[in-house]
Amino acid sequence: NETKNVFPENFMWGGATAANQYEGAWNVDGKKASTSDMMTGGSHAVPRRVTRTTEEGVHYPSHEAVDFYHRYKEDIRLFAEMGFKSYRMSIAWSRIFPNGDELQPNETGLQFYDRVFSELKKYNIEPIVTISHYEAPFGLTMKFNAWASREMIDCYVRYCEAIFTRYTDVVKYWITFNEINSLIVPAGAYLAGALLVDDSGVFNSTAVDSTQMRFQALHHQFVASAKAVKLAHEINPDFKLGCMINYSHGYGSTCKPEDMLLALRMDQVNNMLCGDVQVRGEYPDFAKRYFEEKGIEIRVEAEDAETLKQGCVDFYSFSYYKSHVVGTRPEGDETQGNVFGGFKNPYLKATDWGWQIDPVGLRYVLNHVYDRYRIPMMVVENGLGAVDTVEEDGTINDTYRIEFLRAHIEQMREAVRDGVNLIAYTSWGCIDIVSASTGEMSKRYGFIYVDKDNDGNGTLKRSKKNSFYWYQKVIETNGADL
Ligand code: BG6
Repeated sequence: NETKNVFPENFMWGGATAANQYEGAWNVDGKKASTSDMMTGGSHAVPRRVTRTTEEGVHYPSHEAVDFYHRYKEDIRLFAEMGFKSYRMSIAWSRIFPNGDELQPNETGLQFYDRVFSELKKYNIEPIVTISHYEAPFGLTMKFNAWASREMIDCYVRYCEAIFTRYTDVVKYWITFNEINSLIVPAGAYLAGALLVDDSGVFNSTAVDSTQMRFQALHHQFVASAKAVKLAHEINPDFKLGCMINYSHGYGSTCKPEDMLLALRMDQVNNMLCGDVQVRGEYPDFAKRYFEEKGIEIRVEAEDAETLKQGCVDFYSFSYYKSHVVGTRPEGDETQGNVFGGFKNPYLKATDWGWQIDPVGLRYVLNHVYDRYRIPMMVVENGLGAVDTVEEDGTINDTYRIEFLRAHIEQMREAVRDGVNLIAYTSWGCIDIVSASTGEMSKRYGFIYVDKDNDGNGTLKRSKKNSFYWYQKVIETNGADL
């Protein structure tokens, strides 16, 4: 059957997590607070707060998370049992450089990842490592207002050098920044850039509303990413480096030309701008007018243009959860999403957290992006955040999750048939971890259930959901049996 067996033989099926949502052990073995460690728990309705110091009696979900730090052997064994070929994870920067401005790395922190990589190797699971996944040492945020300052670049590159040299034989795929484009909107500023002080010098605990500052920070990340790519290729020519875009896919609300033009414009700014800089090594032409209209003036150094050109990535990776609609719509018709919002689409259903489910959109995005860059692509995040129920006999029947993933993988399969060079799929939160947007545990993505609630209570016991066995079969048949 031609619709089957379309994924390449060495396709990297796997799952994805991030250190700050998974590891816990936030202040042990030399590690100091990262930006995410200063975020309180929240909910669908109550936003998370960022505090300057850890407040007594307040729940900080990352501090324990689900304790991968001490349970990595058990978890990796379960990943291997599902048949994972790859595992996307991140390194906690403040485990390696606790304050961020040290000149030498923390040996104990490096040793933790030695152990993790050697465990992965045991099962032939290929690590795909995000260098900075929505975190930086909190010390740097307090010292420099994080990425608003150019001084972050050297700290980041020093961190990269330490991990590139240490793990040169055990890691091949690296992603410089998670969802770098989140900095484009205020909601993503703390997560992606860890800015805490706005233009007027005011401590701003939820987001930074200064477009100028966010784009300046983004420029610093572009330069840092490019320097990291160049350095990585010098340290090991076999290294493959990737960008990672939070793909904010928006359809025009009608076929009215103005609506379609707006959708194009938003695609350019929200998605393509970052991809263009990281893949092509220069700002796209449309950026000039956008910056002028927004009054954004990016301070650049003379050598930046050359640096960006020398630091083009080898692959394009992105997260895909939802789509939305752009254009004329009545107020109150807004939809929700991770960082990027938009309007509701009458043809789509949404998750309990209001994210609109759109598998066909994934095929659209894969084709659209591949046509533009023509480099290998990875879907490094995709999944359904849902409430799971443990039945009396201990089973977890997450049919809804299987349906969500099946529909997306089907569309991915179509995209591969369309000619897209897709090399990996790592679904998000392959084991239940802390939600980035709300800090909850009840928003679960995993194939593996973790016994822990939103207030931090639970045994942390792991158990297999029905989707565990389903994904095992998907991998075993290389995506032929969905
Ligand atoms: C992505 C992030 O935006 O979405 C992840 O890279 C995050 O860190 C994921 O967890 C899902 O979002 P949430 O808020 O449901 O955890």
